[in-house]
Amino acid sequence: MPVVVFRRNAEVYEAEVKENTNLVVRAGIKQFPFPHLRYECGMGKCARCACRVLAGGEYLPPPNWKEKKQLGARLDEGYRLACQLWIEHDIELEQDDLPVEP
Ligand code: FES
Repeated sequence: MPVVVFRRNAEVYEAEVKENTNLVVRAGIKQFPFPHLRYECGMGKCARCACRVLAGGEYLPPPNWKEKKQLGARLDEGYRLACQLWIEHDIELEQDDLPVEP
């Protein structure tokens, strides 16, 4: 099962998740990485769930049109929308203290 390392506010949270896990959906039902993951719409519209992928990005599918629209050039810096990711491999993510501007 994939291991997710989630960094926020200089803290590190780590847990194993089932394959094909969406972290925003999990946070919505108050499972890891709740309450540390910031999110809002869950639909790729607000960018509040944006995270930088520190490791494991090579296993992710290419960004979808919502991520391209919300993140633009930040995609090149490794940002993705957590609500648009279904985790199937180990991954390490970091969420900035302040949300990115869509
Ligand atoms: S939660 Fe709104 S874009 Fe991901």
